Amino acid sequence: MIVIVVANQKGGVGKTATAVSVAAVLAERSLRVLVIDLDQQAQCSTCVNVPPKKGTRSAACRLLHGEAPLLEVVVRTDFGFDLVAGAKDLRLAEKHLGTVTGADFVLREALEHAAESYDYVVIDTPPAAGALSSNALTAADWVLVPVQYEAPTLEGYGELLSTIELVVRRTNPKLRLGAVLATKNMVRSAHSAAVSDWLGANVPELLATRVGFSTAFPDAYDKRKPITVFQPKGKSAAAYRAVVAELDEKGLL
Ligand SMILES: Nc1ncnc2c1ncn2[C@@H]1O[C@H](COP(=O)(O)OP(=O)(O)OP(=O)(O)O)[C@@H](O)[C@H]1O
Ligand SMILES: [Mg+2]
Repeated sequence: MIVIVVANQKGGVGKTATAVSVAAVLAERSLRVLVIDLDQQAQCSTCVNVPPKKGTRSAACRLLHGEAPLLEVVVRTDFGFDLVAGAKDLRLAEKHLGTVTGADFVLREALEHAAESYDYVVIDTPPAAGALSSNALTAADWVLVPVQYEAPTLEGYGELLSTIELVVRRTNPKLRLGAVLATKNMVRSAHSAAVSDWLGANVPELLATRVGFSTAFPDAYDKRKPITVFQPKGKSAAAYRAVVAELDEKGLL
């Protein structure tokens, strides 16, 4: 089982779209995939048609409270992979983690019990450092970092690198930066060209494949489907298939 965490402390860079798309492509390849939504916005769960239900605790919240083993809280999505759904109550889980011994290791321990059940686990994280992101990074083998050339990307990226270094030192020596993926690319402005050049020169993990800007992503989200199911023959689906092929070539899968 390989555990991939999709992370960037900057918001709106395409973490959730990337987590769902990569999981959907792996599932197309008949691999056994689990997605874990650790963001209280629950966009990942909503995007795969498992929106939060009022009045019940979310799977991720129950898992992080140690109330149930992983295989009891997963649900099957319509898209060939399983999900540990998130919801607003992840705020409570984060608070709870502040009170337990070895809080960073709760998710890792939970995953150990399901190691035989999945080939890949893809974790979607919130746009913030904190106990939820720490749990994801502590449980992971490598980090997939979506970045957007148009935004002041490098700040978030630098912070994330420092966080990874800390995690490696304190809780997960095997963690590594696996890949950096340029997403939501538009026609290049001077600023985006500068960011792109800097990443190209300084980040060997930068993938050659880029995901272009496409309104199909919010449309797919509205229809609660991964992009590869919403427009299976579209450019964006092809881009994420190319991303997975490149990850495979790099020996990350
Ligand atoms: N390649 C793309 N082109 C255009 N829009 C995109 C693309 N990828 C994602 N989006 C859209 O951009 C918005 C933010 O994407 P997403 O939710 O994946 O980012 P995020 O990093 O998970 O955000 P957050 O930090 O809030 O969790 C969403 O509306 C999504 O549909
Ligand atoms: Mg998100």
